[in-house]
Amino acid sequence: MSLHTVIPSGLPAFDAASLCADLTRQGWSRQSLIDMPLLTALRDEAAALWQADALSRAGIGRAGDHELVREIRRDKTRWFDGQSPAQRGWLDFAESLRLQLNQRLALGLFAFEAHYAVYEPGGFYRKHLDSFRGARNRILSSVLYLNAGWQTADGGLLRLYDEADDSVIADIVPEFGTFAVFLSEEIPHEVTPALAPRFSIAGWHRCNDLGRAPALQTKVLPLAPI
Ligand code: OGA
Ligand code: MN
Repeated sequence: MSLHTVIPSGLPAFDAASLCADLTRQGWSRQSLIDMPLLTALRDEAAALWQADALSRAGIGRAGDHELVREIRRDKTRWFDGQSPAQRGWLDFAESLRLQLNQRLALGLFAFEAHYAVYEPGGFYRKHLDSFRGARNRILSSVLYLNAGWQTADGGLLRLYDEADDSVIADIVPEFGTFAVFLSEEIPHEVTPALAPRFSIAGWHRCNDLGRAPALQTKVLPLAPI
């Protein structure tokens, strides 16, 4: 049997076996999705929404203090509503991923949510976890990057940290088609300041555990100065 799993019906192909092995071994994985019309359609929709000023400044959990939020993250987001073919395509991809992860790793993933994100020049997101231990709502974080020809000088890296000793375990360049996944409760991460507009789709697979602190989704960690 080929290790390379090709997903039928026009969804991006990825290597599910290596993704699962990475998650088991190290809690994160970086894949390159094969360039499909779907990725271009997602990129076009993100760019059109940005140009139409249809994204909102992102928040953190329940925090209502906008100045505090601005010190922690400066991206703009728009939640998927499943209304466009591109969004439905990505939701189909996420569903296929969900089924494969549940089958291979018994993660008990139940639901998926996603938003477009744009980091304008100067945008960043300080080191954080996407889910509290104990809240256990977000299990798997994923980010699809939509930036063709991203340059090192453009910054905007996704930087993953070792939870135990705080060392950097990976810097992920947000190049078009790169798909990063990591365990939401275990991998502290940040987005380093972007110097060019940076487009992505962040998504979270959740378990079915709505009774326990669903609003506490982001934990901001002690900061190093940027
Ligand atoms: C997030 C996040 C990472 C990225 O939205 O919670 O950490 O690389 N995004 O965009
Ligand atoms: Mn995050």
